[in-house]
Amino acid sequence: MTKITVSTAGGVYDVIIGAGLLEHAGDTYRCLDGSSEGGTAAVITDDIVDGLYAPRLEASLKAAGYNTVKFVIPHGEASKNPEELFRIVNFLAENHLTGSDTVFALGGGVVGDITGFAASIYLRGIHFVQIPTTLLSAVDSSVGGKTAVDLPSGKNLAGAYYQPNLVICDYSVLDTLSDEIFADGMAEVIKYGAIYDKSLYPLLPDARTKNIEKVIAKCVSIKSEIVGQDEKDKGIRQLLNFGHTFGHAIEKCSGYKISHGKAVAAGMTIMTEAAIKMNLCSDDCLDDLLKMIHAFGLPDKTDFSVEELYEALLSDKKRKGGTITLVVPSEPGRCILKKVSVQEAKEFLAAGLSI
Ligand code: GLY
Repeated sequence: MTKITVSTAGGVYDVIIGAGLLEHAGDTYRCLDGSSEGGTAAVITDDIVDGLYAPRLEASLKAAGYNTVKFVIPHGEASKNPEELFRIVNFLAENHLTGSDTVFALGGGVVGDITGFAASIYLRGIHFVQIPTTLLSAVDSSVGGKTAVDLPSGKNLAGAYYQPNLVICDYSVLDTLSDEIFADGMAEVIKYGAIYDKSLYPLLPDARTKNIEKVIAKCVSIKSEIVGQDEKDKGIRQLLNFGHTFGHAIEKCSGYKISHGKAVAAGMTIMTEAAIKMNLCSDDCLDDLLKMIHAFGLPDKTDFSVEELYEALLSDKKRKGGTITLVVPSEPGRCILKKVSVQEAKEFLAAGLSI
């Protein structure tokens, strides 16, 4: 088991990484909670994870003295909307959760993001535990306190920074993921190698087997170092957006049919191609990246045009007036932040897409 403490201005909490932790989630949280009465634990999950893992979590919470209630959302990005958010908030109210009760997000990024946002607004903030069940949420979205829902104009446009009280990452639950969903999370793992620590790459061929704990722990400690310095995305945290500006545009253009990981993989490649054409980095950056992207069957391009992607990019929440900060590779394992006009961002897109 590995324990990493995340220390941000908005909260200090542990991320516990190990196999078989779900069975002990109730006791683990009870030790932290420290209350004499268990109170209510509201489990929010999706209709796939519900059948797989909710009974284990509920049994563990009940055994630790919690009264449990459960709300199940349909799986997929389409659920991450304001209507579903308020269905969750109403559910918490109807079940009379108080300020000493806790919401458990059991699922991937969609469940974690919407549940965290619901926890941040219900009673102006209630305890919240993340239990990621996808690689993507384990290495990225369950840590760092970004919570949100999508709006018709774009992804994650309404949200809050709201840190969880605990993250329980039981990687044995990743065993039921298809290779495709696992690969989706690998896009975020590859990102950490590209922006911060290329020593992650040699671990990746065995990421799904013997290196899983090491890989998740390395990603979480990188994320913890970054969000510890910059909780609210004012500086270094923006490095975590490598591949995301163009990636979000790809997701939006596809009507969210292209998954986040696939879009980010293509976004990282397009940005690296552009950086090479603009003499901002060497070919080595692309060689390393493509090796990893191809090893996990992730895409390295998109069929959408520069115009289509540019239109989508204009509604990116990272845009500030006429400027946007791009994350640009500078050498293998390193990226820099480059504030550019939206017109220059379009030039990067065009350079990255031209063969
Ligand atoms: N997923 C990017 C971040 O947490 O900042």
